[in-house]
Amino acid sequence: MTVSIGSRLVSVGTALPDDVLSNADFERMMDTSDEWILSRTGIKERRVGGTTTGLATDAARAALERSGVAPDAIDLVVVATQTPDDLCPSTAAGVQHALGLTCGAFDLNAACAGFSYAVVTVHAMLRSGAIGAAIVVGVDRMTAATNYEDRGTAILFGDGAGAVVMVADDDGDRGVVAWDMGTDGAHPDILSSPIKDGRITGVEMDGKALFKLMVRYAADSARAAVAKAGVGFDDLSAVLAHQANQRILDAVADRLDVPREKFVSVIASTGNTSAASVPLALEAAVLDGRVAPGDLVLLAGFGGGLSWACTVAVWG
Ligand code: UT7
Repeated sequence: MTVSIGSRLVSVGTALPDDVLSNADFERMMDTSDEWILSRTGIKERRVGGTTTGLATDAARAALERSGVAPDAIDLVVVATQTPDDLCPSTAAGVQHALGLTCGAFDLNAACAGFSYAVVTVHAMLRSGAIGAAIVVGVDRMTAATNYEDRGTAILFGDGAGAVVMVADDDGDRGVVAWDMGTDGAHPDILSSPIKDGRITGVEMDGKALFKLMVRYAADSARAAVAKAGVGFDDLSAVLAHQANQRILDAVADRLDVPREKFVSVIASTGNTSAASVPLALEAAVLDGRVAPGDLVLLAGFGGGLSWACTVAVWG
């Protein structure tokens, strides 16, 4: 048996619904303003609609087509989501079927950190030799879990999906170098999506408290992953971090003393898409050339749980 010693992220694909929900739309729906939303969050508009399975499938298909990996070589589909269409069957099962794959498939939920958790999970499986190739999807339809009576949270969220294909690789020049993950489960009051009387009632959030904790946890985890990789932040071409709020991205960059421009931002046009946001940022950076094959990147997911996971990898 050949045992791989590592894993490689070979391609990325994304999917966004067509419909746009702009700040001007929110001005018509509630007591808010484009100026308030833009200055507090960096968000101008979000894409809304579709189904979780449909968005996940489209992103997975795009990543698979770009990967050059044959569909019958895919051994696993992992979908990170906190907004599945149904609890059972899993979203991953729907993706597996829609793409005509015959492999295993399961969902994982670590809220906004889900995609980053899934990358670490699949890396470990590839590294062990348990599987040879996998599709990892981050997808959320946050607008299906948003309380539009609450202007403090409603303006944040959008829908979308992003996926990467990962393969076992013992090359040593490319792939996952190091990772860090953690959870602080002591704060269910700060961010939750509770089920009350059998119904999901919408995201409940103490934005200010969450902001402070997330900046600290995200920065500490990024520092830990970079240290484990034996590199410095100067060596990174880009940081693909969860797009929770532009002010959080800027605050994490400042805390790490990293130029803010190194943190790729797509939040103006997508809003906070939870588990989809890291691969959405990754694809934007790959398409505009900020991330090229051989470049060192940091993937950083953080959110509900509270949970966070960071991966340092050589892209491509
Ligand atoms: O993906 C992970 C989950 N989410 C996050 O990580 C989000 C983290 N937190 C945040 O992004 C920010 O806390 C928010 C954007 C949610 C809120 O920004 P903030 O600067 O913390 O505002 P705030 O909640 O302290 O509210 C400030 C004021 C309040 O008015 P008063 O009490 O000062 O008179 C709010 O009532 O702004 C008011 N406000 C609004 N005004 C206009 C709250 N929401 C709105 C709104 N439009 N949409």
